[in-house]
Amino acid sequence: MKALVLAGGSGTRLRPFSYSMPKQLIPIANTPVLVHVLRNLRELGVTEAGVIVGNRGPEISAVLGDGAEFGMRVTYIPQDAPRGLAHTVAITRDFLCDDDFVMYLGDNMLPDGVVDMRGGIHRPSAGGQVVVYKVPDPRSFGVAELGPQGEVLRLVEKPRDPRSDMALVGVYFFTAAIHDAVAAIEPSARGELEITDAIQWLVSSGADVRASQYDGYWKDTGNVEDVLECNRHLLDGLGARMDGTVDAASVLTGEVVIEPGAKVVRSRIMGAAIIGAGTVVQDSHVGPHASIGRRCTVTDSRVENSIALDEASVTGVRGLRNSLIGRSASVGGTGQENERYRLVVGDHTRVEVAA
Ligand code: TTP
Repeated sequence: MKALVLAGGSGTRLRPFSYSMPKQLIPIANTPVLVHVLRNLRELGVTEAGVIVGNRGPEISAVLGDGAEFGMRVTYIPQDAPRGLAHTVAITRDFLCDDDFVMYLGDNMLPDGVVDMRGGIHRPSAGGQVVVYKVPDPRSFGVAELGPQGEVLRLVEKPRDPRSDMALVGVYFFTAAIHDAVAAIEPSARGELEITDAIQWLVSSGADVRASQYDGYWKDTGNVEDVLECNRHLLDGLGARMDGTVDAASVLTGEVVIEPGAKVVRSRIMGAAIIGAGTVVQDSHVGPHASIGRRCTVTDSRVENSIALDEASVTGVRGLRNSLIGRSASVGGTGQENERYRLVVGDHTRVEVAA
């Protein structure tokens, strides 16, 4: 079975990050989402992946390379514009041939793995297998209405009046039957070729499409809140590791990972937390639930429930929380009491300050 990994898209919900980096490279517990994705696919036994990329392909290939590091062979397939999930199937026809494949959205995190989700896709009559997850409010998801044997009866995109609470997770197993479906459908009202329309076409033409229910942890890392929540979840299972240096005046509590070359000086790190390679934390309080990237500096600050990307610096900020700080960004206090805020922020940036 091959994999089709979707790492194009426009990422509007993750602006301003998606202006400067593909959202699929945002680190969760200091590892890019796409690397988590490739690891899951390898665990599934997949060794050949086509990765759909938009205009940020070079950054993605700089991280994934030829895939050998993950035990895979990766082929990059450019998509000229985000024309929909089903469009990515259409443009990879030559790569996929008539093989079965798993389509995996490159911003979806399923840290408990998807090995049990393949269901009956190996049966010749199988039209496909979708993965569903029970959600309290299905109105913002693609929703599957299921029969008693888990057969898909109907798919509805963001139903106003949902008749099922089973949301579609971003992992789909297909046979070559999907190609006829993709060729038959028309773009939706938002101008995209929708994968839900293609699967609905299969169902309507009598194909046996099934659903497997996933009950592990699932997060679509499409917005900042979900990125932070997913980071908390992953940090909580990361364990403790100490490959850097911590001076005698510092205290580490709980599950803390200190990566090689990182230095902690006169500070307190409360797990779960990870301090990236080459980072220096000084006179600060970090965690819980903080992922500090590589070669960052954190000085005279207090940072919790946040992610700082590589080479970011935080200086003199005593109450930083629920924050996502971009690569090489600097966040600093003015050093004076009762002073007004000074901000230098780009388009679509979000800043929240004390009232
Ligand atoms: P979405 O998150 O649904 O779309 P998006 O990336 O455009 O994000 P936003 O809604 O914030 O604007 O896409 C799911 C995944 O599929 C994501 O990894 C991007 C990828 N994708 C493609 O590769 N090509 C496409 O045409 C689309 C629509 C998405």
